[in-house]
Amino acid sequence: MINGLPDGSGLRLLAPAKVNLTLHVTGQRADGYHLLDSLVVFADHGDLLHVSLAERDEISVSGPRSAGVPEDDRNLCIRAARLTGRAVRIVLEKHLPNEAGLGGGSSDAAAVLRAIAQLTDTPLLDGVERIGADVPVCLASHAMRMRGLGEILTAVPPLPPLPAVLVNPAIPLATPPVFKALQRRDNATMPPVPHDLRTPAQVAAWLALQRNDLQEAAISIAPGIPGALSQLTAQASCRLARMSGSGASCFGLFDTSEQAEAAAKAISAAKPSWWVQSVVLK
Ligand code: C5P
Repeated sequence: MINGLPDGSGLRLLAPAKVNLTLHVTGQRADGYHLLDSLVVFADHGDLLHVSLAERDEISVSGPRSAGVPEDDRNLCIRAARLTGRAVRIVLEKHLPNEAGLGGGSSDAAAVLRAIAQLTDTPLLDGVERIGADVPVCLASHAMRMRGLGEILTAVPPLPPLPAVLVNPAIPLATPPVFKALQRRDNATMPPVPHDLRTPAQVAAWLALQRNDLQEAAISIAPGIPGALSQLTAQASCRLARMSGSGASCFGLFDTSEQAEAAAKAISAAKPSWWVQSVVLK
């Protein structure tokens, strides 16, 4: 992990992809926001940032997935920096697809908050869910159970590292319409994560009993999502395939990194326009 590595006058950080292994929607508040219950993990792949203290906020965005990422106040990195009251120069190299259910923007914002805390020797900011529902869990950047709107985080029993393939079928999908398309908002909570999940196969077997309640709603808007799921399940060694977050990215779980890498290669060859990445989830 290169998180928080000093580099010149600033820090280099990885903003890892967030994956919701489960996402149960258990209610809706009067203000329209939904109550969630989700098991969240992080990949060993993501955006790269360089953050240094500056006279005024500045951001430059580059990298293979930079198209359409704003270089102004609309960028969550700048919104996060503004909340701290410290000005920073941010060099953001985008490797994660945008509006993809992988928490890219939230993870970038969390990396900026971590960098500012480290560079100024100040505690991490509270109330960061104001920036985005995934920002609190992205600040933690390791497996957590996430409840409420995303701000209630609890530890989970240790999980084995999970070899996985992330697939985005080149369908950008904004979050609000997916929540709006939900048929049911009062689904069952997630049962406690068991203490005896020691292998990826055991994790997949337990996850198969859980859900992503946003998956059906997302499919009703983006009918290409089942194609991504079936590319994953068509791989003989895939234990489980499911959508992450509000989509459209999906993940497939495998027993070994060799299997995940082979599957990623096969899916990339079949779908050259898709974003496909073999990762380890923790
Ligand atoms: O907080 P974030 O910007 O990620 O949320 C995007 C949108 O997703 C919100 O404006 C809201 O429509 C929906 N949302 C929700 N309940 C949550 C999180 C997000 O309804 N807990």
